[in-house]
Amino acid sequence: MLKGRKIVLGVTGGIAAYKAAELVRELVRAGAEVFVVMTRNAQAFITPLTFQTLSGHSVTTELFSLTEESEIGHIALADRAELLAIAPATANIIGKIAAGIADDILTTIVMATKAPVLLAPAMNVHMWENPICQENIQKLRSRGFHFIDPEAGELACGYEGKGRLAEIPAIVEEIRSILSPKDLSGETLLVTAGPTEEPIDPVRFLSNRSSGKMGFAVARAARRRGAQVILVSGPSALPAPSGVKFIPVRTASEMREAVLGSLPGVSTLVMAAAVSDYRPKGTSPEKIKKSRAELSLPLELNPDILHEAGQRKEKRLLIGFAAETESLLANARKKLAEKNLDLIVANDVRLPGAGFQVDTNVAKLIDRSGKVEELPLMSKEDLADCVLDRVLLLRSA
Ligand code: CTP
Repeated sequence: MLKGRKIVLGVTGGIAAYKAAELVRELVRAGAEVFVVMTRNAQAFITPLTFQTLSGHSVTTELFSLTEESEIGHIALADRAELLAIAPATANIIGKIAAGIADDILTTIVMATKAPVLLAPAMNVHMWENPICQENIQKLRSRGFHFIDPEAGELACGYEGKGRLAEIPAIVEEIRSILSPKDLSGETLLVTAGPTEEPIDPVRFLSNRSSGKMGFAVARAARRRGAQVILVSGPSALPAPSGVKFIPVRTASEMREAVLGSLPGVSTLVMAAAVSDYRPKGTSPEKIKKSRAELSLPLELNPDILHEAGQRKEKRLLIGFAAETESLLANARKKLAEKNLDLIVANDVRLPGAGFQVDTNVAKLIDRSGKVEELPLMSKEDLADCVLDRVLLLRSA
């Protein structure tokens, strides 16, 4: 999604300037072309060489530099930007932009660009709370500037409170979101993710190796593309995505309740969760002691959530996942038919780069008509967008 996108990153003079280096890394890793512009004060905290090395492009620091202007002028940078991000954004730069001042390279580019601008403020809590700063932010928001608010916590100045630069993954997510076409607006997507945990006794449970990465990627991508998103997730180490209604659950029964309860307002259901097919028959209220040489654990079938959703399908699009270790296409086709689905994402979990825990997947998309689209190895982020592209196609069919 960020591949080849041109992002101008303004860095201003706050202690969080060093974190902008990580932001450049993440953006470059995602395939973006990053052009860094630094204010004079920023250079007191971190050197242009750091950004030049990480971005692979020369860094712009001066408005009236003969060499910099001949290499790439400030207007060219303003025109080139598909998005201008300023991270960290000090109270000073926010005030200058709000007042229409263009007295250095960065403020001049802000004034000249037609691209969307995202500001990630970072400052002392009292500066953040200062009504003048808040008024400036309000004014800029009303003019269409995007903001990602600072977080609360321990500040470099020794204070506690709001003022820490937002986490780098959250800034990257906001950049992706701003650059995404809002082609799913009007859709309400319910996405499930992660494993379920079926308790055996108070300290043990049955589960599987699902990390939740695939479902979380679908939820984030759908939100970026303008959909209303509900994410129902089993236990996962991943942070709840912003802008999404997050419903954490533990067991398959809890997941069933959350999914079926939300279903009436949902236009598309994406079941990426690895639901435990079985659960222990009766949970022991006490920890089971090792008193016997052998122990058999009777299991009973869990409800098949997707199958139940298929029984009450109405106009809803239903998308399932099939994690297989053999007869991939045949098994996936059988699930598609039995569960009354529109699309199934089939993956052979034994292939390198596919399945649980990893950040990539190798999938085949099979639709109701039987058509199979074989996708190459790709990130779960990219696969999420491919699946959502199919939602659009199915809607228009
Ligand atoms: N699924 C579900 N409820 C279950 C089991 C699975 O909703 N109790 C959903 C999964 O989220 C997935 C799809 O059904 O989207 C296929 O899951 P999978 O476990 O691969 O299929 P099963 O029908 O359980 O078949 P099997 O385990 O025999 O392969």
